[in-house]
Amino acid sequence: MSENIEIRTIIGNRNINTVSDTPVTDPASGAKGLEGSNAFVCQRSKLDTKTSALKKSNRYRSRSLSASSTDSYSSASCTGSSSDSDDVSPREKVQKNSAGNSDFCVRNINQHAFGRREIEIAEQEMPGIMALRKRAADDKPLKNAKIVGCTHINAQTAVLIETLAALGASLRWAACNIYSTQNEVAAALAEAGYPVFAWRRKTEEDFWWCIDKCVNAENWQPNMILDDGGDATHLMLKKYPAIFKLIKGAITKFPTNALRFNSRYRNSRGECNRSSSSISAVERWQADRPAMNVNDSVTKTKYDNLYSCRESIIDSLKRSTDVMFGGKQVVICGYGEVGKGCSQALKGFGCVVYVTEIDPICALQASMDGHRVVKLNEVIRNVDIVITATGNKNIVSRDHMDKMKNGCIVCNMGHSNTEIDVNSLRTPDLTWEKVRSQVDHVIWPDGKRIILLAEGRLVNLSCSSLPSFVVSITSATQALADRII
Ligand SMILES: NC(=O)c1ccc[n+]([C@@H]2O[C@H](COP(=O)([O-])OP(=O)(O)OC[C@H]3O[C@@H](n4cnc5c(N)ncnc54)[C@H](O)[C@@H]3O)[C@@H](O)[C@H]2O)c1
Repeated sequence: MSENIEIRTIIGNRNINTVSDTPVTDPASGAKGLEGSNAFVCQRSKLDTKTSALKKSNRYRSRSLSASSTDSYSSASCTGSSSDSDDVSPREKVQKNSAGNSDFCVRNINQHAFGRREIEIAEQEMPGIMALRKRAADDKPLKNAKIVGCTHINAQTAVLIETLAALGASLRWAACNIYSTQNEVAAALAEAGYPVFAWRRKTEEDFWWCIDKCVNAENWQPNMILDDGGDATHLMLKKYPAIFKLIKGAITKFPTNALRFNSRYRNSRGECNRSSSSISAVERWQADRPAMNVNDSVTKTKYDNLYSCRESIIDSLKRSTDVMFGGKQVVICGYGEVGKGCSQALKGFGCVVYVTEIDPICALQASMDGHRVVKLNEVIRNVDIVITATGNKNIVSRDHMDKMKNGCIVCNMGHSNTEIDVNSLRTPDLTWEKVRSQVDHVIWPDGKRIILLAEGRLVNLSCSSLPSFVVSITSATQALADRII
């Protein structure tokens, strides 16, 4: 297949028209869990039925309306306002889907109908991955794949999960972030028969328990990993080396660059230098098996990192703080794809944007785009908003936060939770005050407070929803990578 055709598949056809006059039906209400505790290979016919039900019902749905009083959770489920409030841990509940299956752990299985509608809305904006689903409907290229997935669980990743199943894969899935799960979407996946282990605002212990439930399942042996961030790979490698040995390939979103790895450790014939003392266990393992980093794909970085972040930075800041942007001074650390997207958006809203960079070319780009390139220390006392987007660690230190002015908003758009040194704020002299879901005021002894969003985790995934169209491009890239491996 030519590269052009692959890219067309990933981006899809924006002009699809799937509206019909048939009134709303709830496809989830008719959904039956699949047979067997671990055999979750979806049947094509079921997905076809689901897809056509979706096509019929779209005209009447929008993100902002609730279809009935019984499922009127805020569609902005990312705020966690509706479905986080149950005090009983999902691990202590006995829940079954309507097929009687209990091989899952979600906040509340009864939310499935609302979650199904969220997934259907996302499908409309994800033409690339839906085209891939249709194209590979018959040949089931993933029929031998048994995938452990660890990604954010939201409406868009649900479309990816159901596409992988439609391509023939058997799956078990956990969340890669303790804050980003859309509980109702996780419920919809569980209702449809997928072993999903995820809920919003779980503890760190729950986080690892959920991944463990996916990796170490009875009568089910994974042979692939789809891992956003590397936690499932890490757990498998450390705790279940025997299972890890049987993994045939991995699709990751490691911040480390697989191409960089190749140039560092492989010789000109592509063979790995396994004796290198600095090579880690994961790298050694990668050397023997195909491992793809979606962040190395232009169809991921040039769309998701740039355009998705350009839109979601505004959304997440508005939803969590109600801030007015015009005239605000913002410093963005890192002017890669994510930093460029954030800068464009904030400049468009009238912010004065400062950029910090360590790469001279990116620094020059920031300057040519009209931003002031500075050192963080030069502006930290005056800025109103600090955003990290470097993929690096300890970008914002306690020393920086000590210098920030009262009311400064601090958030991270870059890697996981490493960019802002949040642990350094957990000292007896500082008081933490939770003012909203995902919003903490950290208060200094003199009364100064900074506004920390999502405890330094990815703010857009924690405090807003993502544009489905861009996630479609990333998901299609991941599904194609699965197929290639
Ligand atoms: N929030 C999201 O939805 C989202 C989406 C895509 C990617 N990401 C993550 O965002 C991060 C950045 O992604 P990207 O595509 O922009 O990467 P990138 O490599 O294009 O850009 C990162 C930039 O940060 C700069 N940098 C590194 N260390 C720095 C430091 N100490 N000070 C200042 N600048 C520094 C680098 O020189 C580089 O230009 C990654 O961790 C990626 O996984 C987040």
